[in-house]
Amino acid sequence: MVRINFNLPIKRIELVSLVIILFFLIYSCIDRKAILSTEKSPTNSNTSTASKLFNTTPYHFEIEKFPDYTNVPVDNPTTVEGVTLGRYLFYDGRLSGNTDTAQLMSCSSCHLQKHSFECGLDNPRFKDGHPIGLTGKPTPHSMMPLINLAWNTSGYMWNGMLNDLNMNLGSVRYNMPAKEPYNFKNIESFVWMAIVAPHEMNGRVERTVELLQKIPMYPTLFAKAFGSDTVTFERLSKAIAQFVRTLVSANSKFDQYQDGKKQLTAAELNGLSLFNSEKADCFHCHGMPAIPVWTTDRFMNNAMDTVFNDPFDRRYVTKDPQDCGKYRVPTLRNIALTAPYMHDGRFKTLREVLEFYNSGLKQSPYSDPLMKYANRGGTHLSNKELDDLEAFLNTLTDSSFINNPAFSNPRPRDRFFIN
Ligand code: HEC
Ligand code: HEC
Repeated sequence: MVRINFNLPIKRIELVSLVIILFFLIYSCIDRKAILSTEKSPTNSNTSTASKLFNTTPYHFEIEKFPDYTNVPVDNPTTVEGVTLGRYLFYDGRLSGNTDTAQLMSCSSCHLQKHSFECGLDNPRFKDGHPIGLTGKPTPHSMMPLINLAWNTSGYMWNGMLNDLNMNLGSVRYNMPAKEPYNFKNIESFVWMAIVAPHEMNGRVERTVELLQKIPMYPTLFAKAFGSDTVTFERLSKAIAQFVRTLVSANSKFDQYQDGKKQLTAAELNGLSLFNSEKADCFHCHGMPAIPVWTTDRFMNNAMDTVFNDPFDRRYVTKDPQDCGKYRVPTLRNIALTAPYMHDGRFKTLREVLEFYNSGLKQSPYSDPLMKYANRGGTHLSNKELDDLEAFLNTLTDSSFINNPAFSNPRPRDRFFIN
């Protein structure tokens, strides 16, 4: 029989190792994510004890034929709960911090699913498809679509202002706060910009956070996504960014043709070979069948002008005078849905764009060398060839994307939810 002597004094060293072992045992049992999320949120005052056990479900949006790389920040993994919350916020007009009908604005006021998340020429709110903010001020540029943004390789916006390399944290010109979480590297930062910009919601983040905290459904949704029912600006930015990254388009007629499920017409096939040839000369910049996101994401001057007075072209980011008139090459996926075209919306139809490349090029010292026909004003294709090129571009339309219920307004009959 073994006798345990309870009177035996435990040596100090043994006590210390016991405490350490216990600590690691408990630590390894607790969900790591719960710890991280409570540690990371700066204004997390009333974390409920239940949140310590919270669990999220990973959300996968990767597409096999797309590049392996996706720019999801390490501190914001995509989860089903985060995306659900992000979708509500994306469509909720109270994101502006207001409840008066005239002062409601959300991402979806400008980014509409039916236009591949641009605002569209037919938008009753914005004349000629150019968005204006709640102050009536127009946005500096025309719209960009929200599709396949996780695969962007060079920075966001027409000029690439938000990018991974942003070391200057914010911009003096826009009075951006130079501190975390406002790092202006990724989609998360669009939420700050959209809320405060006078040409968008013209609001204050504190007011938005306060308002959302008071709306009964949000604390629960925040708790599910982040383990605590406290609405913080960092969390709401993260949730919206998660949702935006799930807006994946990979099922156009052309995708189905590549997968062997659909045939292309003779005209579409001819348009494809023109696109990929030196004759029409599009593939250098906009990609090709082997680049399924249909853009190279490079910054180019495509010979539209000879005078450059846009303060927000690529020069704004690089400060390099050689970069005047350069913009990020837009994706051609869903291009038929996203009129008006170019950074200033100068072309109303796809045909006008094609006519421009065909006979409207203006050579300047800044036009890109890849605009090979700039010295003779354009590609000079026949009308039939332009028709075929247009037919091919139309095969890049993904109607399953614009009809995907997962991307749509979650509360279309609620007056606070827009479009
Ligand atoms: C008033 C209209 C308006 C509102 C509201 C708005 N946006 Fe935008 N958005 C734009 C315009 C215009 C651009 C192109 C800006 C540029 O590059 O100059 C843009 C660009 C973007 C881009 C960059 C796309 C790319 O390919 O680089 C993202 C991401 C984005 N918006 C997300 C959002 C989110 C998220 C919200 C809501 C928090 C939002 N936007 C609200 C008008 C708007
Ligand atoms: C040297 C690179 C380059 C080449 C070659 C080129 N593009 Fe572009 N394309 C661009 C850039 C850059 C823009 C955006 C310019 C801007 O907004 O100022 C653009 C814009 C467009 C747009 C409007 C996109 C939008 O969302 O507004 C379409 C459509 C387009 N190009 C089609 C074509 C076609 C078709 C060809 C071949 C005939 C072609 N491009 C050749 C660089 C190029």
